[in-house]
Amino acid sequence: MSMDWISSPAGALHGEVAIPGDKSVSHRALMLGAIAEGATHIRGFLESADTHATENILRAMDVRIDMPVRDERIVHGVGLHGLRAPGGELDCGNSGTAMRLLAGLLAGQRFDSVLTGDASLSRRPMRRLIEPLTAMGASVTAKNSDLPPLRITGGQTLRGIDFRSPIASAQVKSAILLAGLYARGETQVREPQPTRDYTERMLAAFGCRIEFEPGKARLHGDHTLRATDVSVPADFSSAAFFIVAATLLPGSELRLMQVGLNPRRIGLLRILRAMGADIVEEDTLKSGGEHVADLIVRHAPLRGIEVPAEYVADMIDEFPILFVAAASAQGITTIRGAGELRVKESDRIAVMTTGLRALGIQVEETPDGAMIEGGALRGGEVDAQGDHRCAMAFAVAGAMADGPVRVRDCANVITSFPAFPTLANRCGFRLSA
Ligand code: S3P
Repeated sequence: MSMDWISSPAGALHGEVAIPGDKSVSHRALMLGAIAEGATHIRGFLESADTHATENILRAMDVRIDMPVRDERIVHGVGLHGLRAPGGELDCGNSGTAMRLLAGLLAGQRFDSVLTGDASLSRRPMRRLIEPLTAMGASVTAKNSDLPPLRITGGQTLRGIDFRSPIASAQVKSAILLAGLYARGETQVREPQPTRDYTERMLAAFGCRIEFEPGKARLHGDHTLRATDVSVPADFSSAAFFIVAATLLPGSELRLMQVGLNPRRIGLLRILRAMGADIVEEDTLKSGGEHVADLIVRHAPLRGIEVPAEYVADMIDEFPILFVAAASAQGITTIRGAGELRVKESDRIAVMTTGLRALGIQVEETPDGAMIEGGALRGGEVDAQGDHRCAMAFAVAGAMADGPVRVRDCANVITSFPAFPTLANRCGFRLSA
């Protein structure tokens, strides 16, 4: 079902915002909880369509998952070899994380399975994990050897590999490590750029002997995982829309509570600070091995910047909102080395370029990035093309524009941040459906 938003010019933003739980951590806590021994209590779990897809898939394989209250789950682990054959296809919805990580997990099972997705997910590349999984001895097939649905034939004997991934992708790395739990010998993954290491950290917290450092991880198969409690920090990628909005709107001051600051996620923070943003960290603490802090964001004028290519992996989900920050900055912002954006939930380079041009901003599109010249955002109409992060980025553009912005095709915001319109309006946005 399609849904449009109208985001009207907003004044200063004020207040405290409790951003919901991290999506990447929530998926992984469910999956590792499911194959651990004992009960895993997850607090701060993200209630969203993507994480619910993973939850439903695990339930379909006979994992009991209780919800004592909203934002919490108790996963009753069935052990490494306790998942049961599902009765039908497993629907990952819009979630690349669900499909890719589960493909790794399912490659090591004794039963067959099929992973499907919505129209967007069905266009996303899977060869990047099918090839290494096949090298491990798994049987995974796809349309044109690349596109969902993924058909996995169980009962294969997996062996560890030393995989040098050509792509910086936490999803690919995680798929191989999860398959590695079921493989003989050692599985190692090396990445061209370090990516988020939640799978590695969480495997260690579940008692798996895993060695890892930025860009590299290795483990031995057939380890029993022991249930543990997981505290999910607020999702930096969701916080990012509020960070940029408060930076851009004069007079704003927002406090974003207890946001996860994993170093592999906060490239945008570094870039915005270099552009002139005023973002202060307070009440920093370590929770579950992760740095978490309140972020106090005050309005500050931004200047354009060249985003170093080595920052791309650390801010891979933040480019839609960076486009909007760049559109309101003084001067030109250049993005390079970000070709992966073309195979996200949408082609984010194309969607953001087209949208910002419709709002009066000059953008030059390149194969792996863009050059954005800051200017005055006008009201108008843009199309988020079903991409949750583009929809929220355009909502921020509307708050900055000189007239209302109609944002088409926003319904998928429920995949990562269903509370976005409510939280946004509470601190001063003028967003209506
Ligand atoms: C994710 C990894 C990233 C990111 C996605 C979540 C994860 O994808 O874009 O939103 O949870 O591992 P890639 O691995 O495709 O870069």
